[in-house]
Amino acid sequence: MQLNLSTPIGKGRHRQCYAHPANQNLCIKIVHSLAHGGDKELNRELKYYRHLQARTINWDILPRYHGQVATDQGTGYVYDLVRDYNGDVSRDLGFYLNLGQQENNFAWLTPLLAMLRLQLAQNRIVTMTLKPGNILVKRISQDQAILVIVDNIGEASLIPAASYIPYFYAKKMTRIWRRFMQLLEKYGYNAPLAITRADKKQLHSWPAQSTPALPAPAHR
Ligand SMILES: Nc1ncnc2c1ncn2[C@@H]1O[C@H](COP(=O)(O)OP(=O)(O)OP(=O)(O)O)[C@@H](O)[C@H]1O
Ligand SMILES: [Mg+2]
Repeated sequence: MQLNLSTPIGKGRHRQCYAHPANQNLCIKIVHSLAHGGDKELNRELKYYRHLQARTINWDILPRYHGQVATDQGTGYVYDLVRDYNGDVSRDLGFYLNLGQQENNFAWLTPLLAMLRLQLAQNRIVTMTLKPGNILVKRISQDQAILVIVDNIGEASLIPAASYIPYFYAKKMTRIWRRFMQLLEKYGYNAPLAITRADKKQLHSWPAQSTPALPAPAHR
């Protein structure tokens, strides 16, 4: 498969993400750097994907993994490409956080975070460090959005206790969310992440409710 002429959709520390040349709903990730254990990371993620595929989870908040393909850039790993309702590739949370900071508008963020946290817990999905660049804001209609995690799922420990034991799940994810909320403070977002009864109720009809207006770039 030829990827060398297409511009990547995104680039992280060790992977490059391209649109699939033959299917607009898929993307292909290539490991471009073995620094920071790029290949190890990938193997860990694929192992975790196998674990999730063997269970029944809600795939709304994670792109599905579709296996490997050979490309001119080396082995490619195929995932769902996250797109907004209008076909645009979804922007990452960092993009909206920067705009939110400029506009001092974070009303949209709290319900999205609450739903992500509840969805992860309900599906017993573990993550490593949560970062704005690894979370996409998927606009599912003109006034609705959900968060999708595209990177850093699973756990690094030899014995993945958090994946199997509710007590360790809660302990680990409380720590991960606390750190993530501290990171968000750097953007001027200070709401504590308290899950309300109303949030829990919304989980049943999720994602039916509308999202407070997202900050919009001046021209788009
Ligand atoms: N499934 C996807 N749909 C749309 N865009 C994506 C998808 N996966 C990744 N991206 C984009 O590509 C970028 C790089 O992908 P990814 O985070 O997987 O790379 P990475 O090298 O593993 O990242 P990191 O530096 O966080 O380890 C993301 O920040 C995101 O903007
Ligand atoms: Mg990343």
